[in-house]
Amino acid sequence: MRITQTTLQKMAESHERFTVLTCYDAIFAMVLENAGVEVLLVGDSLGNVLQGKSTTLAVTLDDMVYHTRCVAQGSSKAFIMADMPFGSYQISPEQAFENAAKIMASGAHMVKIEGGQIMADTIRFLTQRGIPVCAHIGLTPQSIHQLGGYKLQGNSQQSAQQLLEDAQILEKAGAGLLVMEVVPATLASKITESLSIPTIGIGAGPHCSAQVLVLHDMLGLYSGKKPRFVKDFMSGADSIQAAVSSYIAAVKTGQFPGQEHEF
Ligand code: KIV
Repeated sequence: MRITQTTLQKMAESHERFTVLTCYDAIFAMVLENAGVEVLLVGDSLGNVLQGKSTTLAVTLDDMVYHTRCVAQGSSKAFIMADMPFGSYQISPEQAFENAAKIMASGAHMVKIEGGQIMADTIRFLTQRGIPVCAHIGLTPQSIHQLGGYKLQGNSQQSAQQLLEDAQILEKAGAGLLVMEVVPATLASKITESLSIPTIGIGAGPHCSAQVLVLHDMLGLYSGKKPRFVKDFMSGADSIQAAVSSYIAAVKTGQFPGQEHEF
């Protein structure tokens, strides 16, 4: 049976952590969901890991539609979430709907958009019209040039308060899930406790409802330095399937992320 947003909500309510991995093609969709990964994220990180770019900014709507279709083709169980690429949703809620509809038609069950409370109207517009939305706050890679690099967010009292308010406003606007990227573990924990929707952490400590990693990172495939929040699950595993199973077990038992992965 297909995992739905309701399944994930119930898991979070019963404090059962779920797992998310990025996925960009059919064969990995099969491998990941057969191992038990609940959510496949067709991330715009494909700009980095598939296209070799240093940012996600050049990823197009056509790229996202193509890879979402590939993942959907290989998947029968997991919940499929897909990123809306840079420039495809920031102009207006109407622009966002038109482009999100294309991603949903290619097989996604939810779209993910980056940004704080400025995105509330767009999230309200999409969710009132039948498109589930995951919000993404903290380190938002599409704003990398404004953020000044891949660095910790929410590490001052003011910016932490801002992220907490953003999360609450986005939930009220209709977001069904919230990704928090590279924020202090204590802040992610506070935000998770203050919301009723599930939170998904990446570099956000262990107290989120779920964890996500970029597939290539967790398989030990990175072009530069390994980010602090990444664990190479391929190390010591004798197959990709075994590495993914070990990631799932580590998330479910609270062993990953450890203190060495958090901020
Ligand atoms: O594109 C992506 O891979 C993501 C995750 C890092 C959350 O958005």
